Amino acid sequence: MSIDSNDFHDSSGFPDFVSLFRQSAPNIYANQNKTAVFVLSAKALDHSNFVATLHDLALLNALGLKIILTYGLDNQLDNNQAPVDNKKLQSLIQKNGEIISKIMAEFSLGLINSPMHGAKVRAVMGNFVIAKPKGIINGVDHDALGEIRNVDVVSLNAHLDLNEVLILPPIAYSPSGEVFYINPWQQAVKLASQMDADKIIFLGQCESINQSFKGELTLEQSKRWLSTQASDSLGVSELRHAIIALNENVNRAYLLDYKKDGQLLTELYTRDGSGTLIYQDDYDVIRQAHGADVSGIKALLEPFEQKEILVERSKHNLEEHIKQFYVFERDGMIIGCAAFNQFAQQGELACLVMHDQYRNANRGDMLLKKIQDVAIKNNVKQLFVLTTQTAHWFVERGFVKAQLSDLPEQKKSMYNMQRNSSVFIKTL
Ligand SMILES: CC(C)(COP(=O)(O)OP(=O)(O)OC[C@H]1O[C@@H](n2cnc3c(N)ncnc32)[C@H](O)[C@@H]1OP(=O)(O)O)[C@@H](O)C(=O)NCCC(=O)NCCS
Repeated sequence: MSIDSNDFHDSSGFPDFVSLFRQSAPNIYANQNKTAVFVLSAKALDHSNFVATLHDLALLNALGLKIILTYGLDNQLDNNQAPVDNKKLQSLIQKNGEIISKIMAEFSLGLINSPMHGAKVRAVMGNFVIAKPKGIINGVDHDALGEIRNVDVVSLNAHLDLNEVLILPPIAYSPSGEVFYINPWQQAVKLASQMDADKIIFLGQCESINQSFKGELTLEQSKRWLSTQASDSLGVSELRHAIIALNENVNRAYLLDYKKDGQLLTELYTRDGSGTLIYQDDYDVIRQAHGADVSGIKALLEPFEQKEILVERSKHNLEEHIKQFYVFERDGMIIGCAAFNQFAQQGELACLVMHDQYRNANRGDMLLKKIQDVAIKNNVKQLFVLTTQTAHWFVERGFVKAQLSDLPEQKKSMYNMQRNSSVFIKTL
């Protein structure tokens, strides 16, 4: 069963909490001890969801995610970098003071009837980011608009290791003692790349991107889409900086809509989320399985064993034959698998499964290709499969119906007459 973020009730009308919580477990494990940089647009700070977002961040912190939080203070300035004169700088500093107080107050909240009861978030700020002036560009002096000169990675990591939430405002200081406003998107990207963050999360004006791309995009697809957009379209700044972050080796960038309450939680802790995830093209990997994959493979196969599409395999059997398995891993989770079993010049493709949430995107084909490549490498001339309900899928991929007598002797002796599976063979 997959998680639908709108489906929070079971048939009896009670919240299906246990089921949802259990299904989130793989995401909780996958996010533990990972560093994530969150950047909130100036508009997100003024929105009524801001407080709930802070409470959600406290929860993520408790679940073991290492959090760096930054934000913008002026929507126009953040999206079209204009000079910051002294008067503007003073108003940004004042607004920053108000925001800091709000964040600290919310993270300190512990009232018994609030979601923060027991959270004990320790939030830390400091002069970890050193600034330099942006300078004069095309004859225009940008005054107090600065850029990041360097980041004190060692100190930041020391705080994250203590499970402290780092708050890094878009105000930074130079060694000459001057104060600069830093573009929040640039600051977030720089922090994510310097801190080797696993993910960068933009809570911005991403509604239309989310509508066009609910789910995910590869880096290449997002670059193509960006090239078709006007530079002032909503969400374009966020997307542009997400692409820069991925080019600087951050694994994942999430574009979320600050107006959507709870999107942060559904995005990070359900299988699919509701925002837009942009990922490096190697986010999906097919690799040979190892011992630690047994539980993941078992969980994947079980529903198909119950439907008698696959023969039941015990955990012990999987452990014994784990080297025959190849898993399709996405973001650290096993979403598909296949097994290859060699009989001299014949080989068997078995246990081919793709989680139903991830079907119809050629991943089954990719797994088949992997098994074929392994077979060819091992001098296998014929690949066979026994199937009860998936015959057409194999026929459409070059397998032809064969007889039981065409199978290797060892396999024939194991054939289960009751299942009455059809035999298909592909010549490689
Ligand atoms: C077979 C399976 C691995 C394909 O995974 P996938 O990632 O969706 O594969 P692809 O994207 O490469 O292929 C999708 C195509 O296969 C078709 N397909 C899926 N199951 C099929 C079946 N049982 N019979 C015929 N075609 C099937 C889909 O309709 C789709 O075709 P379309 O694009 O023309 O609509 C997946 O459907 C699965 O896990 N099925 C249940 C387990 C199973 O039957 N395994 C085989 C055991 S022998």
